[in-house]
Amino acid sequence: CNVVVLISGSGSNLQALIDSQGADNPARIRAVISNRPEAFGLQRAAAAGIETRVVDHKAFAEREAFDAALMEIIDGYAPDLVILAGFMRILTAGFVRRYTGRLLNIHPSLLPLYRGLDTHRRALADNQPEHGCSVHFVTEELDGGPVAVQAVIPVAPGETAESLTARVHVEEHRIYPMAMRWFAEGRLRLAEQGAMLDGDTL
Ligand code: GRF
Repeated sequence: CNVVVLISGSGSNLQALIDSQGADNPARIRAVISNRPEAFGLQRAAAAGIETRVVDHKAFAEREAFDAALMEIIDGYAPDLVILAGFMRILTAGFVRRYTGRLLNIHPSLLPLYRGLDTHRRALADNQPEHGCSVHFVTEELDGGPVAVQAVIPVAPGETAESLTARVHVEEHRIYPMAMRWFAEGRLRLAEQGAMLDGDTL
């Protein structure tokens, strides 16, 4: 299963995906693409011997042109799966349509709660007893696609946005490799009725 990973920053999720590769895992990360040349994740990829590419969004006046350049590079790797791992650009409908069913994202909340940014602070402000993260198939609705897997953690007394961020990250690093493997093994897919694992609707 050929995988292309898109990043914008640190790439700690990318690292977890890289570390999960192995002989018994059919997922193979063929390339890592960043919209920011300085993204640390590019160094992580290079250290793992994975090809890296940069498509700098600042070089494009229009979102459509940026996405077109991105798609051309992605398609050069003939990916079965495209993974967004902290990729901080909103994608055009044309991009999402092209990869529907083979495009995954991770979001730091228990979707459908807290789409968008600043999720940890918002969950705390609402006194949520639980918080977490979700891997979901990407659809045209921002952070709105069918959820494939979630991790739930209790919000501890005295919790801050920082402590919550760190604890949710640990869970992200656990569930994203899981979802990549399930997809690569043909166990996870997007159907008419939503995400399916081993033939069951999630
Ligand atoms: C993660 O919190 C992820 O949920 C969000 O962006 C962050 C990426 O972190 N979409 P990293 O670059 O993988 O460290």
